[in-house]
Amino acid sequence: MKRSLFLCVLFGLLLSAAGFAAANDATSGTPTFYADVLPILQNNCQVCHRSNGANLGGMVAPMAFTSYQEARPWARAIARQVEARTMPPWHASSEHAGTFANERTLAETEIATLVRWAKTGAVAGDAADAPPLREWPANSGWTIGEPDLVIDFGERYFVEDDVEDQYITFTSTITAEMMPEARWLRSVEFRPGSSVVHHIIARPLGGIAPGNDPTTFNEGYGTLLEPDTEVSWQMHYHKEPGEGTGAWDKSSAALQFYPIGYTPDFRVLNNPLARTDFEIPPGDANYTSTVSTTFDRDSVLLGYTPHMHLRGKSARYVAKYPDGTEEVLLNVPRYDFNWQTHYEYPAGGKSIPAGTEIELTMTWDNSADNVSNPDPTATVHFGRPTTAEMMFGFVSYADAEPGYVPPARSSRDPERLKKMLKERFGLDWDTMSEDERREVMERLRGARNRPAASGETSGR
Ligand code: HEC
Repeated sequence: MKRSLFLCVLFGLLLSAAGFAAANDATSGTPTFYADVLPILQNNCQVCHRSNGANLGGMVAPMAFTSYQEARPWARAIARQVEARTMPPWHASSEHAGTFANERTLAETEIATLVRWAKTGAVAGDAADAPPLREWPANSGWTIGEPDLVIDFGERYFVEDDVEDQYITFTSTITAEMMPEARWLRSVEFRPGSSVVHHIIARPLGGIAPGNDPTTFNEGYGTLLEPDTEVSWQMHYHKEPGEGTGAWDKSSAALQFYPIGYTPDFRVLNNPLARTDFEIPPGDANYTSTVSTTFDRDSVLLGYTPHMHLRGKSARYVAKYPDGTEEVLLNVPRYDFNWQTHYEYPAGGKSIPAGTEIELTMTWDNSADNVSNPDPTATVHFGRPTTAEMMFGFVSYADAEPGYVPPARSSRDPERLKKMLKERFGLDWDTMSEDERREVMERLRGARNRPAASGETSGR
């Protein structure tokens, strides 16, 4: 019995060794940088890890992995990060593999190769085995390519030494000189002007928080931008306070338009699922809150952006279809405040029938075990600073009918607004503080317009 088991195991080992050898799998031999590691780095890491790499809302990779000399000192850190699934940054659960267009994940064999490379001395190998150098677009500074228009908030601004968190709003205008006629927006990319920029909400263009990709709508989708549009730049600056930490900022945004005369079939709209009435008790490791919205027309879902602050733990969007079936649209089991990812469907989006309800469930960890928790003894409410919390589940979508223009939402009518806030978000306007009201209004506008101006607000 023992003996046959031993033989079986031995035979199995031999078989798998033969299999590995046949597939020339780098997870068993000694992988080399040039033959095995560089291709993985090129395809999955260099978009950020290169000089002038992607700047995702201020998240800039601090080291390049384009050559052996650059990558070698980081071999063990690379192994650690990919094994822990913290790099490349992507926080949707594996059940969504293949669902989103901007997915950043490695195959198990790729992880094994990187780990083994680090364990076997991180050797260079033969440079002749290297794939061709990967060419990155000449750096015009913008990931979206040549912009049609670059705007900023005018005068540069100095964030003082003693600042830890600062919120300040600047206003600039897209003048008729800059943009003589209404244009359909195709792409927007924000560029923080300094490392102290934490996030930017630039109404009505959208905004970025750490880890956001630039926005490029799929062909046929867009939002309309009118000349003389005022852009309000709500800046959040964040840094360690102290002598010499002050910094100048002039953040900017690059816009790309569809050609004049082209009208995209679909307007990109936004539906922010939100609540502000939660109260997270001190020490609670798993506080949960739920909110839902119903789509009353056939629609096409385009993507999701869950947003919480430092205590944010998980986010989950579930579709409840009119036929009674349910589907998990997005599950983010380990939410990371530093990576405010927009989970984006490939071209064509995801169709849902009229009557579909989308339910958002978010959880927070206010315990001392949460290393990001600024204060586990605090009762935490909705609020603007990162030390307070938020609950937003942005959903970008389009109506299923080409050319459909949503009815103008009259947010000028206070009674309608109050009713909407009550129904949709469980908010009682009359009992809210000035700060809360301002926050909600800014968020609603930012959300409705994220990632860009939608037609319904263009007549403001
Ligand atoms: C979307 C951009 C992006 C991609 C893609 C990406 N990284 Fe990173 N990486 C970053 C950023 C930003 C940091 C700095 C992290 C921080 O400041 O929290 C970082 C940090 C790291 C670190 C250093 C962590 C430490 O010890 O300080 C390693 C190692 C790393 N990345 C490896 C990888 C590898 C390997 C890949 C590809 C498999 C990859 N990254 C893909 C953006 C990226």
